[in-house]
Amino acid sequence: MNSIDKIIKSLELSPHPEGGYYKETYRSVGEIKKDSLSNEYQGNRNYSTCIYFLLTSDSFSAFHKIKQDEIWHFYDGSPIRLHVITPEGDYSNHLIGRQLEHDEIPQFVVSGGCWFAAEVVNKNAYSLVGCTVSPGFSFEDFVLKPRHELISLFPHLEELICRLTHQ
Ligand code: GUN
Repeated sequence: MNSIDKIIKSLELSPHPEGGYYKETYRSVGEIKKDSLSNEYQGNRNYSTCIYFLLTSDSFSAFHKIKQDEIWHFYDGSPIRLHVITPEGDYSNHLIGRQLEHDEIPQFVVSGGCWFAAEVVNKNAYSLVGCTVSPGFSFEDFVLKPRHELISLFPHLEELICRLTHQ
């Protein structure tokens, strides 16, 4: 078994629909009632959730968005490049890692409503990170659009979107 398979097995990770592998490690028991959330939420949400997320060099996390801010924490492996597109179409990318002297940052917050995608920087490598959100994650808040729809929203980013979407 290679080191990536060992991590997947020992952390009990499963394939994630956006690409990569994940496991939810925390879901608060407490809930925020729908009436106390902004009206974009369709139901109650847990206070907070957290996952392990593992990405490998031969995969990527495709552009998707959620309603809440998502905090990324770097744990191990290659640095990860996080690509972010705001609802207005402004693009930025960020290196999440531990080598501060190479302008990597160990923690990064993706603002709710932004489209984001991620890829492992090194070849034949993996990145292990954590992602925390509050209100807690629900697939009801998760949007993964087909490539052509994203390109029609952000035509100036066509090349990037083609590279970091699955279909
Ligand atoms: N739980 C399942 N998928 C996700 C995800 O993409 N982000 C977060 N934060 N939690 C999840």
